[in-house]
Amino acid sequence: MSHEPSGRVVKIEIDGRVVEARTGEFLLAVARRAGIDIPAICQHEAVDPAGNCRMCLVEITKASWDGWSRLVTACLYPTEQDLIVKTHSAPVIEARTVLCDLWLARCPDSAYVQKLAAEFGIEKTSYQPAAVPTDQCILCGLCIRVCEKLGPAAIYTVNRGGRKKVAGPFEGPPPDCIGCAACAEVCPTSCITVAERDGTRTIWDKEFQLLACTTCGRTLVTIEEARYFGRKGGLGESYYQLCDRCKRLQTAQQATKVAGLPLTVGGLGEASGRPFRSPGSLTTSR
Ligand code: SF4
Ligand code: SF4
Ligand code: FES
Repeated sequence: MSHEPSGRVVKIEIDGRVVEARTGEFLLAVARRAGIDIPAICQHEAVDPAGNCRMCLVEITKASWDGWSRLVTACLYPTEQDLIVKTHSAPVIEARTVLCDLWLARCPDSAYVQKLAAEFGIEKTSYQPAAVPTDQCILCGLCIRVCEKLGPAAIYTVNRGGRKKVAGPFEGPPPDCIGCAACAEVCPTSCITVAERDGTRTIWDKEFQLLACTTCGRTLVTIEEARYFGRKGGLGESYYQLCDRCKRLQTAQQATKVAGLPLTVGGLGEASGRPFRSPGSLTTSR
């Protein structure tokens, strides 16, 4: 789903502050722009909001609603004129507390969930804890949406109820996975394991060989990732022969040669030593 605000500027009130927004703009985006914090676990700038985690619940009302109010997910609720939004009212806190309580029952061993629950005063879940603790996944779905957005759509939810989980087909290694690790990068609970050793990356029980920069030897992307994004982006195979730093260095060397200037190789290499990001990589907002 793509979403565009309609463009008309309106005024709304968030936690007592009057804030300008465009009609249709999602409340979470408006609040964030105004520096107002709303917890949002399944929201990431790389993908459209999905309203899965419900942690971003806020209470909305209007002066014309005669005291009536309701809870909505801020990441998906479009702004309207005269809206009054409370991000930390008693019903909001109560709803978030229940969510944390449930997640703690599902993932009692997750450090992320334990910390989150503690912020809402929960040390022990009041629900029946999972008989077999799950894999620390709170089923926010962010990994699935990111994988879909990148293209492979290799993982999804399988099973129902307490056995629901994120996996590949038949719960085995996902055949369409290209090993880009974007899913692991965005996972709030860090429960997707990625291991890199001796030039290989293991994720979702699949092993991928990593390409290394032909100049400095730094590992870059998996072979499958290079092929996939090479095809998708129309990049030649040579695109992945050098890391970003070596590409910049090579360009600078060529430029200085043309200009007839000397180049201090080490200086440029070190000064520009930012980490390599593949086209398939995403950064997390957390
Ligand atoms: S590693 Fe990449 S392709 Fe594989 S499941 Fe994760 S996001 Fe999808
Ligand atoms: S694996 Fe992580 S990102 Fe995916 S649904 Fe579970 S908690 Fe969310
Ligand atoms: S951030 Fe809104 S429902 Fe998850």
